[in-house]
Amino acid sequence: TTIYLKDYQPFGFDVENVELTFDLHPTKTRVKSRISFVPKPGAPAQIFLDGENLTLISARIDGTSVQPVISAEGLTCAVPDAPFLWEAEVEIDPENNTALEGLYMSNGMYCTQCEAQGFRKITYYPDRPDVMSVFSVEINGPHPVLLSNGNVISTSRAHAKWHDPWPKPAYLFALVAGDLVAHSDSFVTASGRNVDLNLYVRPGDEGKCAFGMRALKASMKWDEEVYGREYDLDLFNIVAVDDFNMGAMENKGLNVFNSSAVLASPETSTDENFLRIEAIIAHEYFHNWTGNRITCRDWFQLCLKEGLTVYRDSQFTSDMRSAPVKRITDVIDLRARQFPEDQGPLAHPVRPESFQEINNFYTATVYEKGAEVIGMLRCLVGAEAYGKALDLYFERHDGQACTIEDWLKVFEDTTGRDLSQFKRWYSQAGTPRLTVRDAWYNGTYILSFTQNLAASETTPDPQPQVIPIVTGLLSPSGEEVVPSQVLEMTQATQSFTFEGLKERPVPSVLRGFSAPVVLESELAADHTAFLLAHDTDPFNRWEAGRSLARASLLKMITEGAAPDPAYLDGIHAVMGDATLDPAYRALMLNLPGQSDLVKSLCDMGETPDPQAIWEVCRAMSHVQAERLQDILPALFDAHQVTEPYEPNADQSGRRSLANAALRLVSLIDGPDRARAQFTSADNMTQQLSALGVLLRINEGADELAAFEQQWKHDRLVMDKWFGMQVIHADPDKTAATAARLTEHPDFNWKNPNRFRAVMGSLAAHHAGFHYADGQSYDLMADWLIRLDPVNPQTTARMCAAFQTWRRYDDRRQQKIAAALDRILATPGLSRDTTEMLTRIRGS
Ligand code: ARG
Ligand code: ZN
Repeated sequence: TTIYLKDYQPFGFDVENVELTFDLHPTKTRVKSRISFVPKPGAPAQIFLDGENLTLISARIDGTSVQPVISAEGLTCAVPDAPFLWEAEVEIDPENNTALEGLYMSNGMYCTQCEAQGFRKITYYPDRPDVMSVFSVEINGPHPVLLSNGNVISTSRAHAKWHDPWPKPAYLFALVAGDLVAHSDSFVTASGRNVDLNLYVRPGDEGKCAFGMRALKASMKWDEEVYGREYDLDLFNIVAVDDFNMGAMENKGLNVFNSSAVLASPETSTDENFLRIEAIIAHEYFHNWTGNRITCRDWFQLCLKEGLTVYRDSQFTSDMRSAPVKRITDVIDLRARQFPEDQGPLAHPVRPESFQEINNFYTATVYEKGAEVIGMLRCLVGAEAYGKALDLYFERHDGQACTIEDWLKVFEDTTGRDLSQFKRWYSQAGTPRLTVRDAWYNGTYILSFTQNLAASETTPDPQPQVIPIVTGLLSPSGEEVVPSQVLEMTQATQSFTFEGLKERPVPSVLRGFSAPVVLESELAADHTAFLLAHDTDPFNRWEAGRSLARASLLKMITEGAAPDPAYLDGIHAVMGDATLDPAYRALMLNLPGQSDLVKSLCDMGETPDPQAIWEVCRAMSHVQAERLQDILPALFDAHQVTEPYEPNADQSGRRSLANAALRLVSLIDGPDRARAQFTSADNMTQQLSALGVLLRINEGADELAAFEQQWKHDRLVMDKWFGMQVIHADPDKTAATAARLTEHPDFNWKNPNRFRAVMGSLAAHHAGFHYADGQSYDLMADWLIRLDPVNPQTTARMCAAFQTWRRYDDRRQQKIAAALDRILATPGLSRDTTEMLTRIRGS
């Protein structure tokens, strides 16, 4: 069944108070609930409570037994037309809950995941975000650590009582129990409240907590300083869990994290891991205000909390590290994950209007494009007005369950702007194409833009959107003659005029990637190489390098052309410019993604050949290496870090440039440098990049075996070991490599991290996944069929591997269609996977 935004109805009852008692048992946990309901005016005579996979033991209303009607989705019961107390007892089976939703067990510990609709697997309840209530929780079980939301009331052996004073929806409920150890610290808020901080981990992981704790304290401070938001409880707990479907979860006062998103040490984690952990800790912490204190009215409003919180965590990372590097990596990620979604069968608006399974809408569009929309809004109104609007948002809506309309209204009320057209960013699916042209006469320079959004199933009649186009003009000698300004485009076609210029300028448009669009240049002259050399905007300078690389790769593919010397000269100049941040220079060497090239080829009317694309990218790397040969060894040497390892921006930037140089130089000089680095490395960043370089030149067999011996006790490191082999396999061996790894005794496929390490890497290896024999498609289908009954959420997410299938030739499409149909024909296929595959398969 499909659920529609337009059908929203408020719940008929208020929930004043919730008391839960858990008697923990691996297969027979008993949950008692006491819930005070207050009918609203006009409330129905029957109440419906969500409930799935529950065994009802007893139910009472005001002390009298009742016999509700039970279905697979919940129960219905006649109720009084006055306030009443609902009491129920249910039995659940955490150990056999492999879907990792509701209350489940992971390596002997109990934990919960309730967002979006997992609470209904714990007890009967109005499981919807607009029902907010105060929860008290009692936990009985033979475990040293028993945790829930809020403040601890009492705790003794095998017993704990918790109370959360802040009203919250059920999706923010959490419970954790197990043999855990705490890494503890504290934080004093701006107004002087002392907050105890604990990071709970399994014994043995104590040494991986320090960085997460530091990131938490930095996040708390940042939210006070930048958004004026203080923490509101005496306690903040984080728990690391090995089996978790997503990255982490912002439960009130008790954040639960995938261990990969919180545990870190220099020996076991790369610089990228540290960066991601810092961002996720911040993200979940920031949800305390944007998500928990102000939550969503219904799940269609998911971007209200997710888009805003992603935007906030990206601001945080920009402040803690390099803002240009953060922006560039965010755009790379947006193009790799969100653009294919927006431009294929899974396209949906940032605020979807219908869904079957809400878990399928925790997407790059809701999260990352949702964050882009916030960034555009801030760009349009300015930083100061943005701050005022946010202050009003927190003041007006604290304690409420809100909508996108509420969000936009605070901007309208503080700025006087009409945002009705801007709102189309929330309702129209697809990536707008923005074409730019220019003209010059009599000292007047004109930039003309056309925007175009393709019609799609969800957006059959697209209308022009408000596009903030940050633009600067450079003189032909490279001076900035018109500094960055926001051109506010509202029409389908629109021109902007610049007067008083001495000579025809060079435009730098869409600086900082000020809108999530595809920019197409129809400028009178091609300024890309000039911008790579001279643009003052770091994003656009990087973008110029990427455009040259893309254009050159496309010509190599379609015309057999030689690599563009202007591109090679340009990156040579950038690489040799010691005034530029090393991390930024390392990014300059990256080539566009191979699926990006597929899309460009399709747009040109060509049929992409994944193998040919792979070969051309390889060839380009070799040419890069040859062209940079004179400076690579020096770059490698000059950026070695000799101080003790720190995961900060400065050191990780140097390591990324040194490792980019190592990767290229090894293509020419062979494995010696990488071997030496692998052997001497005292941190995972150095060890893993050396291993990657060796695997890439088919020289890493011994190191791979040594790595396994060294790290077989460490689950998170072994995920890397599994993934690396697939990622670096040659295309003709990728499926076989992945298949062989699934036979490895440590391939615990019920663990989402391990499953993704192999299957996610298979999907990410473009030429390997689309290798002509179709073996990867079949292997993926086999495993999706196997995982679906165990864990529908992780299965459904992995289906996105097939979302771009219409871009390929008939033979590949036939093979993929057969794989999709085979999965779809599986009896009892989950709602999650069925929805994903039906949308991908289309008609
Ligand atoms: N709210 C969490 C976050 O963004 C994501 C959890 C979603 N989980 C799910 N099963 N849909 O940080
Ligand atoms: Zn979030």
